Amino acid sequence: MPTPEPVPFSTLLRTASSEEHEAAEHSSFMSRLLGDQLGIEAYADLTGQLWYVYRALEERAEQLAAHPLAGPFIDPALLRTAAIERDLAHLRGPDWRDGLAPLPATAAYVARIEELATEWPAGYLAHHYTRYLGDLSGGQIIRGLAEKAWGFERKGDGVRFYVFEEITNPAAFKRDYRAKLDAAGEAMDEVERRRVVEECKRAFVLNGNVFHDLDGRYPLSA
Ligand code: HEM
Repeated sequence: MPTPEPVPFSTLLRTASSEEHEAAEHSSFMSRLLGDQLGIEAYADLTGQLWYVYRALEERAEQLAAHPLAGPFIDPALLRTAAIERDLAHLRGPDWRDGLAPLPATAAYVARIEELATEWPAGYLAHHYTRYLGDLSGGQIIRGLAEKAWGFERKGDGVRFYVFEEITNPAAFKRDYRAKLDAAGEAMDEVERRRVVEECKRAFVLNGNVFHDLDGRYPLSA
């Protein structure tokens, strides 16, 4: 009998994390935020937390660019920190850093990314995939809803985080990204592949925990 074709690593990551994706997408905070049940403060709050996350993802990008496995994924076109800072200046004013602090779940998420960026770049890749491919996918839905709910200029200040100026063809970019994931998967043994898949699920859970903390800041009115 012929041996079955191995599942491409990009497919494995997507299918293995689909339940976690569902949970993040339908989390109370995201549902309320995108259902226009929370104000612009909650959106600004989310953006502030994302600033910590992307700083952690991006501050070691230069060193990671030299890494054989993670290196091919490091791409200046993805960098989000500067875009988030512009959004925050719009949302919170020029002194946007004043009073901004990471929620406990954000601090835990950041600590995990920082740990992986230095100690296990394949694990870092799981986080890179979870955030950036998500931003290029569902992030575009979020942008549209945010523009509508809070009147931001289309692709302008407030939603720049979701706008990848240098990626003119997101579908092609995602195809290339998935091909790189497949190649990375082939360079790993089975144990390592499984560990990366588990880390990807964990990345979703860490995101879900941030939403949970944010949700707690906006109690349902009685
Ligand atoms: C309300 C929130 C969300 C919506 C509406 C949403 C929606 C979507 C949609 C429609 C896709 C498929 C796009 C395509 O096939 O190209 C997608 C893919 C993806 N999303 Fe989300 N999403 C949300 C939240 C999230 C969150 C919180 C994360 C992780 C932090 C995430 C990570 C991903 C990833 C990694 C993919 C790519 C899957 C793959 O093709 O490998 N999403 N999302």
